[in-house]
Amino acid sequence: MIRVVQGDITNLHVGAIVNAANTALLGGGGVDGAIHRAAGPDLLTACKKIGGCPTGEARITPGFELAAKWVIHTVGPVWQGGAQGEADLLESCYTQSLDTALDHGIRSIAFPGISTGVYGYPKQEAARIALTVMRRYDDRFDEIIVCCFTSDDKAVYLALLDTE
Ligand code: APR
Repeated sequence: MIRVVQGDITNLHVGAIVNAANTALLGGGGVDGAIHRAAGPDLLTACKKIGGCPTGEARITPGFELAAKWVIHTVGPVWQGGAQGEADLLESCYTQSLDTALDHGIRSIAFPGISTGVYGYPKQEAARIALTVMRRYDDRFDEIIVCCFTSDDKAVYLALLDTE
């Protein structure tokens, strides 16, 4: 089942939360910063052992002090106008994250709006890509949650869910 909620992803009691990371995997601002703050310093230690993540791919670590058991770190594309393969890379973030979750027997997963903050991806188009992929995986999970930080973001997803 796909569910859209508004709130702080670090509070969700799910198998895995997805982090909108960067290729260095050393933390940052936005949701990346929030997840590292909530997980504690062991998360950075685990990320350092991984040694980075290419754009469009995903890596998994334990959740440490988070409510979630796992954190799946994925690196979204920086929006450059849409002609640099951004849509394929963003879609890959969602498919690679969901495949990684399946590989670890995870049945509930929550996503932030990958690339829609600092990386500037237009929210409407990003939400369309996210929901398209989530629908393809929906029957293999108990729950796929879209965790929107703001009510405006939530409205974008709800509008798209209503149109199908
Ligand atoms: N819970 C849920 N969503 C959040 C939270 C939170 N605690 N904090 C921020 N968000 C939302 C933002 O509102 C945005 O919609 O997550 C979405 C992604 O925004 P960013 O965190 O800026 O991520 P992104 O656009 O993918 O940029 C990634 O930012 O923080 C750095 O290290 C990160 O370099 C990387 C870049």
